[in-house]
Amino acid sequence: MKGIILAGGSGTRLHPITHAVSKQLVPVYDKPMIYYPLSVLMLAGIRDILIITSPGDVKNFSALLGDGESLGISISYATQEKPRGIADALAIGSEHIGGDSVALILGDNIFHGPGFSWSLKQNLDSIDGCVLFGYPVHDPERYGVGEVDSHGRIVSIEEKPEKPRSNRAITGLYAYDNDVVSMVEELRPSSRGELEITDVNRMYMERGKARLVDLGRGFAWLDTGTPEALIEAGQYVRALEVRQGVRIACIEEIAFRMGFIDQESCYRMGLRLNKSEYGRYIMELAG
Ligand code: DAU
Repeated sequence: MKGIILAGGSGTRLHPITHAVSKQLVPVYDKPMIYYPLSVLMLAGIRDILIITSPGDVKNFSALLGDGESLGISISYATQEKPRGIADALAIGSEHIGGDSVALILGDNIFHGPGFSWSLKQNLDSIDGCVLFGYPVHDPERYGVGEVDSHGRIVSIEEKPEKPRSNRAITGLYAYDNDVVSMVEELRPSSRGELEITDVNRMYMERGKARLVDLGRGFAWLDTGTPEALIEAGQYVRALEVRQGVRIACIEEIAFRMGFIDQESCYRMGLRLNKSEYGRYIMELAG
């Protein structure tokens, strides 16, 4: 399975923070935001990842993550000139996807909870159709919303409905089999002029091949859209990290635990950051 992180857009709700820096590079407590979605793909065992950013931001993302070799993965970059919709990422990434299946994740989505890597493995390995992840929220009208039958098959899907049919928001992690490449070729822009991810998901639903996996209670799917949400997300991460003495979304640790890199390479990555607690944490776990 290939991975795509969509990290474009202009982050207008965070201005002036995002005037000169991409939203997905803004810190969430002790690490840049993109570490969180990157961790999700790595935990799913995905090692070939395309990052899509606005044209002016590629250099900053590649200064941070390079070609991924030190993490035992491959990272490449593509640009999106204008925010033409989330499904545009699948069109931009069609060559990267090739004949494979794909997981697309929004670069500003933070997921954290027990059993998540297990659930990713269960649901993404040998995928047939599309798998989405649903999360109960009190304000579903702000999101894509899905309704499921008793088998977890999606029976209705709407983007930001005025009258939501369920409280299940569809999160920004979308997994598809290879049919998505030809489906996106058929897709036409909506009235907003965007290639809507909800239209792709609806096409799968109409084929009876869209599943919604519940990320139930006790799971955290955090918003980062406003200064308030951003600091709350940072506080959530800080509370868990300080209390438990572990780091959430430490990409070097995940690379090591997933067997992408050996102990020595992991230690060396920590050593390069040894003036920070983050770096010392990596050295300790690989020491
Ligand atoms: O976060 C989950 C929600 O994400 C879903 O429930 C919705 O169905 C989905 O449409 C999306 O809603 P948003 O209102 O959050 O979409 P937004 O346009 O804000 O885009 C989400 C992120 O993707 C944001 O960081 C910017 C980036 N983006 C968005 C578009 C449309 C791009 O990089 N390029 C784009 O063309």
